[in-house]
Amino acid sequence: MNIKELIKSMTLEEKAALCSGKNFWSLESIERLNIPSIMMTDGPHGLRKQASNADHMGLNKSVPATCFPTAVTTASSWDRELLQEIGEALGEECLQEGVSVILGPGANIKRSPLCGRNFEYISEDPYLTGEMAAAMITGIQSKGIGTSLKHYAVNNQEKRRMVIDSIVDERTLREIYLSGFETAVKKSQPWTVMGAYNKLYGTYCCENKKLLKDVLRDEWGYDGLVLTDWGACNDRVEGLKVGLDLEMPSSNGLYDKQITQAVKNSQLDEKILNRTVERILNLIFKCIENKYTNYKYDSDAHHTLAIKAAAQSMVLLKNDDSILPLSKDCKLAIIGEFAKSPRYQGAGSSRINPTKLENVFDELTHRGINFAYSKGYDCQEDTPNEELINEACKVAAEASTVVIFAGLTDRYESEGFDREHMRMPESHNHLIKRIAKENQNVIVVLSGGSPVEMPWFEDIQGLVNTYLSGQGGASAVLDVLFGDVNPSGKLAETYPINLSDTPSYHYFAKGRKTAEYRESIYVGYRYYDTAYKDVLFPFGFGLSYTQFQYSDMTISKDTMIDTEGVTLSLKVKNVGKVAGAEVIQLYIKDQESTIFRPEKELKGFVKVYLEPGMDKTIHFVLNKRSFAYYNINIKDWHVEEGFFDILIGASSRDIRLKEKIFVRSSQPNVLIPDYRSSASVYYNLKNKDLEISHTDFESLYGKPLPPSDLTEGEYTINSSLEDVSETFFGKILVRSIKRKIKEVANTKDENDVTFRMMWLSIFESPLRTMVQMGDGALSMDLLNGLLKLINRKYFKGFFMLLCASFKKNGL
Ligand code: BGC
Repeated sequence: MNIKELIKSMTLEEKAALCSGKNFWSLESIERLNIPSIMMTDGPHGLRKQASNADHMGLNKSVPATCFPTAVTTASSWDRELLQEIGEALGEECLQEGVSVILGPGANIKRSPLCGRNFEYISEDPYLTGEMAAAMITGIQSKGIGTSLKHYAVNNQEKRRMVIDSIVDERTLREIYLSGFETAVKKSQPWTVMGAYNKLYGTYCCENKKLLKDVLRDEWGYDGLVLTDWGACNDRVEGLKVGLDLEMPSSNGLYDKQITQAVKNSQLDEKILNRTVERILNLIFKCIENKYTNYKYDSDAHHTLAIKAAAQSMVLLKNDDSILPLSKDCKLAIIGEFAKSPRYQGAGSSRINPTKLENVFDELTHRGINFAYSKGYDCQEDTPNEELINEACKVAAEASTVVIFAGLTDRYESEGFDREHMRMPESHNHLIKRIAKENQNVIVVLSGGSPVEMPWFEDIQGLVNTYLSGQGGASAVLDVLFGDVNPSGKLAETYPINLSDTPSYHYFAKGRKTAEYRESIYVGYRYYDTAYKDVLFPFGFGLSYTQFQYSDMTISKDTMIDTEGVTLSLKVKNVGKVAGAEVIQLYIKDQESTIFRPEKELKGFVKVYLEPGMDKTIHFVLNKRSFAYYNINIKDWHVEEGFFDILIGASSRDIRLKEKIFVRSSQPNVLIPDYRSSASVYYNLKNKDLEISHTDFESLYGKPLPPSDLTEGEYTINSSLEDVSETFFGKILVRSIKRKIKEVANTKDENDVTFRMMWLSIFESPLRTMVQMGDGALSMDLLNGLLKLINRKYFKGFFMLLCASFKKNGL
């Protein structure tokens, strides 16, 4: 296929039409030129192909597909090969379903445990994020299916996700929020990258020159296709100019005219449009070449893989007196509704219709294991139900061991809104406390997509975190509980004790207009370990039924110049009685630096499987990036000459081996930013809460901070429904939209998860999305008329509404 020739034969209108979707999930086709359409669907941990009614919130049914554990779970495996294998399976499911691009993985950093979408994201650490995302992309794309690395970038909260402006200092942007994307782009070349909803530095991500052109295309050399998140297009022509190719989904040709007009009046160079069309056609034909007609994936094999993935990702967090693994003939009590109705995936656009769904109750029965069961709580209720708790206590009192299945219910976390606190439902917390009084042998099995506070932690003996373990989670957790699988997951995020311990506590999702990232590079363990803050579980932590010994660390040289690499090796031995796998983590600590740096940073990890008594020598290779910080003066990575510690650990707080190296800089005369006098707070974190003043952050940011709240002015198409909700016409809109959503969600309860997700998605979105994502009932002309009314320009407003409705009805 000669794509350049094909473009020559296209009319301007055809080119413009190709730049947005044909419908919710497909790209435009052009019959005249034999340009076919291809289909995209969510992602990331399974396929959400909607055969009939489409939506981006997981509301309408999709075809059955394997629901693998979500990203928070598989990230805890720290196993690149496993991620690749899951990717291959996802690719196969796409082949069968005729889907060409799967929308994922998500590489946004977990800035706060509160983000409603953390279950879909990988880690608080960019190195781990990049490695795991790259592995998954490699797996999917090896099957000839495209991926969409999302949501690029600095999209770390659900609150006002479609209007919020992320304000983060440049160094933090590079070191924390972009570097996972960078690794994934460079290592695995995703076929597409999805621009996020939010703004960065005042400009929407999908028309952000810095993000799309300067960084993604020019610096990282990305030549694949960039598409918008669903409804994220604001200024279509600006987007094209900076490298945004495809608008998704279809907005019924809303922007086609703008594109053709812009070319005609020389506001947009046609060469730019041609380049975009070339990238779109490249994707379409690459996908078509890889299509199968009668592909059938093995759904049993994929279910087995889902079980394996879950089992290898679960994290054993407490095992006092080796209460686990359980003996198959202990007198077992199983408590908690989750044992029958598992919480196995998250809500929103990633919701999968699983090919099968296991639960612990049935799985135990199949395995012929005797147990007593009690419900303990009702998933729909947050307040403790005394009757259910009393019954559960009776069952617990008669058992030798009790396993309680508890955690976050569906309504606690979802795409579309953030959590307001880190607590589990009181009905679960209270139950655990009461059961622990009845029985000395209590194990809690946690489900949920993000850390929770555990007021009962001291009262229990065992704790297994399954996160959201997918459709095979029940088999997997039983394998772990009974020792058929030795747990080897390690946390990909820190578990703070309380929400108030988190570094973004004072700043997360606070501003109405901007999200200030005042904590800077101190995200997750970069903060807790630098501030010596007590945590419930450190980053990288996870227990095993065996023990590993680390020894014989050797380093290829003790001095290096940063243009070279260094190799190091060490021996790991399984010194326990059962086989198991260990994740060996490598952290770098800069002994002394002019710029503030975290106590340590993850720069390598390896997972090894060892039979009892066996050992293995493992190797790491370090390079300049392992030691560098991002220098805003030279706009590049830089190493400050000096000594660095190389720390080998079983978690960020369990360092087993240490070496030091002197790294010489190839750029010794570079000016290193020094904030010791202007923002000393960043240098002095020990045992302090992270309270950063406006002035301190501003000096790091390097220019005046934009107002974080709404300022006076006219409402525009980019104002949200929330912004206009106090106006007369805004109130009417709010009332009627709420009514409609209740009808669609089939509920009267405003706490219902579907209602909240839909309502907040609309309430906090720019008004323009009602046109873009609507069914055509509201046109841009109508919206502009309405805005005049909202802005109290009544005469003009009514006139515009009249004209718009005449136009719509073809009068
Ligand atoms: C989500 C994306 C998703 C898209 C399509 C958006 O609301 O942010 O992650 O891929 O919808 O469903």
